[in-house]
Amino acid sequence: MREQNLIDELKRFDTDEIYARELCDFPTKGELTVHDKAILEHDKIPIRERIVNELHLIQKWNHKKESGVPPRFAECSFFNFECRTENEKHIFQKVCDFVSQEHNEGVLLMTGAKGTGKTHLGTAAVRDTQGRYVSMEDLIYKVESSMNFKSPQTEEEVFADYSTTKFLVIDEVGRSLKREKEIEILSYILRKRYDNQLPTIVISNLEKKVLMKNLGEAVVDRLRETATSIEFTGESYRILKRKVA
Ligand SMILES: Nc1ncnc2c1ncn2[C@@H]1O[C@H](COP(=O)(O)OP(=O)(O)OP(=O)(O)O)[C@@H](O)[C@H]1O
Ligand SMILES: [Mg+2]
Repeated sequence: MREQNLIDELKRFDTDEIYARELCDFPTKGELTVHDKAILEHDKIPIRERIVNELHLIQKWNHKKESGVPPRFAECSFFNFECRTENEKHIFQKVCDFVSQEHNEGVLLMTGAKGTGKTHLGTAAVRDTQGRYVSMEDLIYKVESSMNFKSPQTEEEVFADYSTTKFLVIDEVGRSLKREKEIEILSYILRKRYDNQLPTIVISNLEKKVLMKNLGEAVVDRLRETATSIEFTGESYRILKRKVA
């Protein structure tokens, strides 16, 4: 995970002098004179600033409009996802692995019960990758309204946007009443993202079998080719929160 890596890097930079010397292009062997130490401290400032800025960018990302993350999920991260069961640990690990995979061009399909943390982990993935989140309903709305001549974006621009963004999470898939439209948009974007070798997370609270049935052959074939899936189970976190309160 990028956020964790940056936190580790910052800690090491602050506590491990040899590492700091390495990043500042200083000799890593031998004692430094008092004068060299002063220069090192001076040279450390912009490098530390770079790491801190990168970290802040990630931590604030989901509050930005361009992330597409709804305010309700803006604070969701991998750090505040609790792993209460072995299954949750397993799910958490799978999502982290997907997010930190280099040259990732696959699809991660997250299905299962309501309130079990799918959107939480999806938006945590957006935060860590500075990616984009969109619900299927909003995606359909964006495509449909782009056909209006007053729209700031053309249909091509909407499609190009979601087909080229470096990390995309599409939530609430398989439930739209405009099923034909949903299938058309999803199959186009998944195909384009596959061609562009870009990773995508697809989330639905339907059972995988039902979702596949709803999405039809074109999308299912694409998913079969590229997707790994995770089934979320267990009691809704929303209900648990209410019980504790
Ligand atoms: N393991 C967890 N640790 C901490 N918070 C959690 C966890 N699972 C869920 N939550 C919290 O519970 C609430 C519901 O989770 P979330 O919206 O991610 O569920 P969901 O699986 O997307 O549900 P739905 O299918 O209804 O969309 C959110 O506020 C989320 O942050
Ligand atoms: Mg959800």
